[in-house]
Amino acid sequence: VTVRRPVTSLDDFRDLARRRLPRPVFDYLDGGADDERTVQANRDAFARVVLRPRVGVDVSRRDQSTDVLGTCVNSPVLLAPTALNRLLHPDGELAVARAASTFGTVFAVSTSASVAVEDIAGASTMPVWFQLYMANRDATSGTLRRVAAAGVDVVCLTLDTPVQGFRRRDVRNFLTFPPRLGPTTWRAFLSRPLWSWRYLRAEPVTFPNMTHLRERRSSLNPSVSWRKVAWLRGQWKGKLVVKGVTRGDDARRALLAGADGIIVSNHGGRQLDDGIGTLDCLTDVVDAVDGRAPVLLDGGVRRGTDVVKAIALGARAVLVGRPYCCGLAARGEAGVAEVLELLRAEIDRALALVGAARVADLDTTFVGAAPAAPLR
Ligand code: GLV
Repeated sequence: VTVRRPVTSLDDFRDLARRRLPRPVFDYLDGGADDERTVQANRDAFARVVLRPRVGVDVSRRDQSTDVLGTCVNSPVLLAPTALNRLLHPDGELAVARAASTFGTVFAVSTSASVAVEDIAGASTMPVWFQLYMANRDATSGTLRRVAAAGVDVVCLTLDTPVQGFRRRDVRNFLTFPPRLGPTTWRAFLSRPLWSWRYLRAEPVTFPNMTHLRERRSSLNPSVSWRKVAWLRGQWKGKLVVKGVTRGDDARRALLAGADGIIVSNHGGRQLDDGIGTLDCLTDVVDAVDGRAPVLLDGGVRRGTDVVKAIALGARAVLVGRPYCCGLAARGEAGVAEVLELLRAEIDRALALVGAARVADLDTTFVGAAPAAPLR
């Protein structure tokens, strides 16, 4: 008998994914822009905030459910849009959608998803959001009609991607979309036979939500300004969330353009390097928004205590990307479910230990700045 070592943190899922995936695919998932300092900044920002527990609080009944844009989620953790989930597991986005629905949270489907949004929505019993890059007006109008017909009522516009960030690992690994078996990649394929066998047998991985566009790069548009966001607002009857904001003044502009929600995000450190960690700019954004819309955050969330810190600093909820991708790569739908469950259990324990029975009880009194030098 082989005994499966218990998974004790999201880091363990990262290890499982690294062992399952060929290097170029793992690096695409795990890596970031340039020297990956923004990736690190997201983690460091959480490490610099400490928790200040309240004791003597009755925490025997704890509740982490919350409302996000009219949807009650079982835990304040949503699934961030990520590209091409079928590279990670043959079930791809369908597995993610099913796990999110069973758990009771929202999956934000990427424009670059590898399963059609109609099929993902069909596999979901929870609302799905659609992440949009604004290509040009015709393509955008077409996409909006399509996602509305699929039953999506929240579009999440990503603004941190006027051009593609430079991912050194992908270049060095000769990564193509989709990855192809060839002279520069055969060693990577050979090193992960199970993955390769499944990948080569499956339908080719494509971008079925960008059929009207010639290629992925053409979905990026460096001319998207707030004026175009306001145009989009006029085109879209559902809710509009603006993602990729790291400044209070931009959050105000997003609200002026008609946004119903803000996601503080730097694309998981995959776009601009040497950017500010998302938790480091959360307060600026929350103050600017001043309660007029929910503020969400992604980037570097790896622990239940991270979720508690973000909510204490004013986020309504967080999104995770890489962690559920690692769960998917390791164990398909069950792996995504385990990632969500692990975070839920960590949040539950963190709430009990900080003395907050409900996420709504969290406020800035629960956090402080880590001392610059260790206390003696
Ligand atoms: C896609 O948006 C990516 O970051 O790879």
